[in-house]
Order: sequence, then C-alpha cells, then structure tokens
Amino acid sequence: MGSDLETAVGRLRLRNPTILAAGILGLTGPSLLRVWNAGAGAVVSKSVSREPSEGYPGPTVVQTPSGLLNAMGLPNPGVEDILGEFREAKKGGATVIASVFGGDGEEFASVAREVEKAKVDAVELNLSCPHLETLSIIGHDPDLVGGVVERTKEEVKIPVWAKLPGNTHIQNLVEVAKAAEAAGADALTVSNTYPAMAIDLETGKTILGHGGGGLSGPAIKPISVRLVYEVYEAVRIPVIGSGGVVTSEDAVEYLMAGASAVQIGTGIMERGLGVFEEVCSGIRSFMKERGFGKISEIIGLSH
Ligand SMILES: Cc1cc2nc3c(=O)[nH]c(=O)nc-3n(C[C@H](O)[C@H](O)[C@H](O)COP(=O)(O)O)c2cc1C
Repeated sequence: MGSDLETAVGRLRLRNPTILAAGILGLTGPSLLRVWNAGAGAVVSKSVSREPSEGYPGPTVVQTPSGLLNAMGLPNPGVEDILGEFREAKKGGATVIASVFGGDGEEFASVAREVEKAKVDAVELNLSCPHLETLSIIGHDPDLVGGVVERTKEEVKIPVWAKLPGNTHIQNLVEVAKAAEAAGADALTVSNTYPAMAIDLETGKTILGHGGGGLSGPAIKPISVRLVYEVYEAVRIPVIGSGGVVTSEDAVEYLMAGASAVQIGTGIMERGLGVFEEVCSGIRSFMKERGFGKISEIIGLSH
C-alpha cells in the first residue's frame, strides 16, 4: 500500500480506485484472483443468496448498439457453496467484497453473516437488480432499504455497502441514499444497470428470455455520473461509481463527480482484464500532468 493511487472507502483502504463490479468473473476463487492479479484494487463477487438459484432461461445477454443488455436472474450456487471460493481469493491476497441479496432484511442479514465467516473485507447489498422484481421494489423504497441495511449492520462487523438502483427519479434516489446512510451503511455504490429491453423483429418477441433486462456499458456512464454527483451532495458516506467505465477518463470523471472508487464490469468485455492496469496508469498520468499527489485531491472536485 502507500501508493499514489491508494484510496479509502470509509475504513477500507484500496490499493487503487478500480474495483471489479458484481456479476462478472465473480463466482470462483480463481476468477476473483485473476482479476485481482490483473491489477484491480478490489474484487466484488457475483451476488449470492441463501439458497442456490438457477437464474432465468436464455438468452440472458444481448449486445445492443449502445450497450450490453442482461437478465441473468442472479444465478448462484447459494452462500454455503461459495464460501470456499471467497476463502481462496482471500488466501491469494485479494481485497474481496461479497455481494449478497435476499427477499427481505432477514435474508440479506443472514447471508451477510455467512460471508463474514469467510473473512471478506466488506459486503455489498444488491438492492438494485432491475430485472429481479423483489430487489427493484426494495431499492426504490427508503423504508425497505433502511430496514435491510439496519438488519445487516446488526449482524456483521465488516463494512456494509449499499448498491442503489439505476434510478433517474433523482428525488427518490436521494431519499433512498439518505435512508441507507441513516441506517448505518458504510458506503453507497451508484449504480446498478438501468431497466431496458430489446425486441426481435422476426419473432416480435423480446430477445431476452426474461423479457426486460438491465443496460450497462458506455451508454449509461453519463446517467450514472449524474446520479453519483447528486448522491455525493446528499450524503457524507463514500460513494462508489458504477456504469460504463472503460477508460481512465471515465474513472476520473466519476472521481470528480464524487466517487471514491469506480467499479468496472462491461469494460472487461471490451478491453479484457488489462482494463484495470490501463485505467490505473491513465489516472496516474493525469495526476502527474495536473500536479495531483493523491486520489483524494480529485474526489468531488466538480462540486
Ligand atoms: C452480465 C452482468 C451480470 C451482472 N450481475 C450483477 C450481480 O450479480 N449483482 C449486481 O449487483 N450487479 C450485477 N451487474 C451489474 C454490474 O455490477 C454493474 O453495476 C453494471 O453492469 C454497470 O457497470 P458496467 O457498465 O461497468 O458494467 C451485472 C452486470 C452484467 C453486465
């Protein structure tokens, strides 16, 4: 640690501000370690639930001209089966954040309690998957979000990050963000994918097996930068940016909007795992050129 790119998300220190986003390469110890060894500052796992889940029927992913559309349905082996993978990633030296979800506060809290046993560094509550109806309802309701965060905070000692929905109803998003903060969230990830759809002209039906899905990639970056900016103004806890980060310029934009770190998901599909080093070296050059000594000097600069 102690590098020029080190950043802090509350009490968690990261060697650099690039984080693997939930849902990409996050199901096994070896894949989490591959991303860590490629230079990510931390890795977030695939979202896990108490019981195993098969997810939705295919197609689950479709490329559109403006971004990636997915409706995986959060397939995962269940928390018991994934703890060994988290332990392996921790053993390899990675900073690991476990993404968890459930149907209510009780379930979120119980899954968080389990992942804490694997000595992960933080837990991220997926309150925001746009194609899982229960999470979509929770993530737009300040009381429900507050309840889930509060129950989870009672259950675990590690930092709790709340991942908010891609919600352009800014007033509602800010209320949800404040509710999460008031309930004790240590950081907010802003945001998940945005509700979206693609239709096959031949069949007249939706392309994704589930119907609706979530849009990610460069198309959503300006929308999420706005959400980060607004949430940063409304809360005092750290914000983590997510949505369309592919280049170092994207990352710096999020930092200036108020993010303490950024997550990268779809960018890996465009650039491969080299994206983490590319983004970090671009941030380093930017800092050198502009005379910034620390990441913290850039965070929130646009305010
Ligand atoms: C294929 C795929 C699977 C995803 N799975 C999850 C998930 O399990 N949990 C979650 O919180 N977010 C999930 N996401 C959302 C990403 O973590 C991220 O927030 C979003 O894609 C925006 O960032 P990006 O444009 O860098 O991909 C998924 C995204 C994609 C594309």
